[in-house]
Amino acid sequence: MKVLVLGNGGREHALAWKLAQGERVSQVFVAPGNGGTARDPLLKNIPITDIKALADFAEAEKIALTVVGPEAYLAAGVVDEFRARGLRIFGPTKAAAQLESSKAFAKDFMKRHGIPTAAYEVFSEAAAAHAYVDAQGAPIVIKADGLAAGKGVVVAMTLEQAHEAIDWILADNKLGVVHNDGGARVVIEQFLSGEEASFIVLCDGKNVVSLATSQDHKRLLDGDEGPNTGGMGAYSPAPVVTPNVHAKAMHEIIMPTIQGMARDGIPFTGFLYAGLMIDEQGQPRTVEFNTRMGDPETQPIMMRLKSDLLEVLLQATDGTLDQVELQWDRRVALGVVMAAHGYPLSPRKGDAITGLPSDSEDAMVFHAGTAEVDGQLQTSGGRVLCVTALGESVRKAQQLAYDSLVNIQFEGKQFRRDIGHRAVKR
Ligand code: AMP
Ligand code: GLY
Repeated sequence: MKVLVLGNGGREHALAWKLAQGERVSQVFVAPGNGGTARDPLLKNIPITDIKALADFAEAEKIALTVVGPEAYLAAGVVDEFRARGLRIFGPTKAAAQLESSKAFAKDFMKRHGIPTAAYEVFSEAAAAHAYVDAQGAPIVIKADGLAAGKGVVVAMTLEQAHEAIDWILADNKLGVVHNDGGARVVIEQFLSGEEASFIVLCDGKNVVSLATSQDHKRLLDGDEGPNTGGMGAYSPAPVVTPNVHAKAMHEIIMPTIQGMARDGIPFTGFLYAGLMIDEQGQPRTVEFNTRMGDPETQPIMMRLKSDLLEVLLQATDGTLDQVELQWDRRVALGVVMAAHGYPLSPRKGDAITGLPSDSEDAMVFHAGTAEVDGQLQTSGGRVLCVTALGESVRKAQQLAYDSLVNIQFEGKQFRRDIGHRAVKR
């Protein structure tokens, strides 16, 4: 069977790498892919990004299953287009992807279905938003309604930051948000404290199978300092998700979401990623929904998955996830992201990358922002590589990941030295 993966990040490299191990898989295409998927003899890059052209390709090549990485394709309706043409694809429809593409949709949905999340209000008028913030005080969280490549959220510790963020979103769109129909809107929500975890499940519209838990590091610098990024590293499992927290997340967040979507007439199929904030009492609340796998969470999760991913996703698209039980490597997997000079604000492209270790069963270098130019590997995006390793403990996985990256060189490389620190302490 031929499989197609859409996207060009580290998440897609890890998904394609895992899919290629499938018993019945003859070829994995990645569109458009990156320098890492280009080098892997089991994978083949396809330079197509247009949705109709992708469906034409899937039809011509008789692709058995297409797996969608990034949210932008989902919000643009790639699943609707493929399904309309009778092509098998794993992901949510455009309507269901609103759980991620519209924060206002997600918050209203959670309120309606009694799903634990931060209290909030939605505004399209700047004056009303400013007045609300003054009345609430800081800290407070300001979120753009539309997709913003992870940059649409400002956790304002002061009122000044909160007012500034409202203007960025409603007045001059400084965060580069893709506004939804009806124009710019801002969600203002209560600040939640606690520890975050990524809770990702597979859904077939009705049944749910949870993936191994994980946690990422959103800030650029050691000690969780500096600006927010797409994620500087991740590991699995996340010790903060105890069996009790897991049960609460399933019963109070995931199942009501799947049932609520079905009841609202927009059944959810695909990866559903609930970003959880877990308070001291072990109560999880939903900080956000993503309607796709996390990046970099996918890299350690795929390292630990023992089941045949293609077979699992075929069952997910058949609506028979109730018959699936996933097998996991009981070891810890941990991935360290190496980012380009200037990331996250203005990542530089074109720096030569050298010193990559050879991949092994226990250590993999997943590529993200890399490209092959005349046979030379170069940086081509913000997050460049994710060096991911397995170990008997968090410390051992951490050790192997950091040992694996010592010889990797590119001008201006940035990476954190403390990925996994929260799990080491436990
Ligand atoms: P989001 O895109 O909604 O996940 O927000 C990005 C990041 O901002 C989250 O991973 C949290 O670290 C932080 N964040 C978002 N909402 C809240 C909140 N209500 N309270 C505290 N931190 C938040
Ligand atoms: N690592 C966070 C995300 O994928 O949104």
